[in-house]
Amino acid sequence: MRNSHLLLALGVLAGVATAQPIQLEPQYYDTVFDWALQTNHTKQLSITEVVSPDIADRYDDPAWVGTVFAITDRVWDLMARMDGQGTFDRLLANAEANATYSAGLKKLLAYNIHPDEALTYLDLLRLVEGGQGSLSTLLDNERIGLKLSGVSGGTGVSTITLVPAGQEIGNVTVVFGPDVFAGNATVLAVDKVLLPAL
Ligand SMILES: *[C@@H]1O[C@H](CO)[C@@H](O)[C@H](O)[C@H]1NC(C)=O
Ligand SMILES: *[C@@H]1O[C@H](CO)[C@@H](O)[C@H](O)[C@H]1NC(C)=O
Ligand SMILES: *[C@@H]1O[C@H](CO)[C@@H](O)[C@H](O)[C@H]1NC(C)=O
Ligand SMILES: *[C@@H]1O[C@H](CO)[C@@H](O)[C@H](O)[C@H]1NC(C)=O
Repeated sequence: MRNSHLLLALGVLAGVATAQPIQLEPQYYDTVFDWALQTNHTKQLSITEVVSPDIADRYDDPAWVGTVFAITDRVWDLMARMDGQGTFDRLLANAEANATYSAGLKKLLAYNIHPDEALTYLDLLRLVEGGQGSLSTLLDNERIGLKLSGVSGGTGVSTITLVPAGQEIGNVTVVFGPDVFAGNATVLAVDKVLLPAL
């Protein structure tokens, strides 16, 4: 099942249009896996399948409860370049071949998941406004800092900033958009990957 999903993910063609920047109708998918396929986040799937089948299992489970902070395929491409890997395919190949490298990527994926609670943008906003300073992640003892950084002009929407433990590529903005429900989990789009302390 895993392999056929991976092939399917890699085989999905471009062209599934992502919606207008501000569309507040919630979007519902059966699972995180299904969300990824339908929104062109196929690289998220393929890297997860390779480095962390246990996380991929949760993505596949409609009953799993959690919040996934997700970047687009384009950001994965940029990461591959920043990493000196050149292309995403090389990043994937390196993850397959090199256990140390793969462990690092697994840690990164685990840090981008807040377990046991499916948060929407508004939930997150309420938490920050209520003074909550951080969120747990799938990594023991590694939390994601939370802060509010003003209101963005056009939309009047508060900007939520995540402060990762590893600061190398800086703070991360949660992209305002429709709530995405995937099974009993939610997916929040972010503009960069959250780096754990390395
Ligand atoms: C989907 O991904 C492909 C390959 O990365 C990219 O060329 C295409 O622009 C993406 N489409 C959308 C709608 O994001
Ligand atoms: C999702 O959660 C609701 C409420 O807790 C529950 O009734 C439902 O069965 C869950 N869905 C799945 C697929 O487990
Ligand atoms: C494996 O990956 C680690 C961490 O990126 C790197 O330091 C090491 O040189 C790699 N080993 C091989 C054999 O490529
Ligand atoms: C990220 O946020 C933290 C906490 O507010 C701040 O100390 C840090 O300077 C910020 N980093 C960047 C790159 O803006």
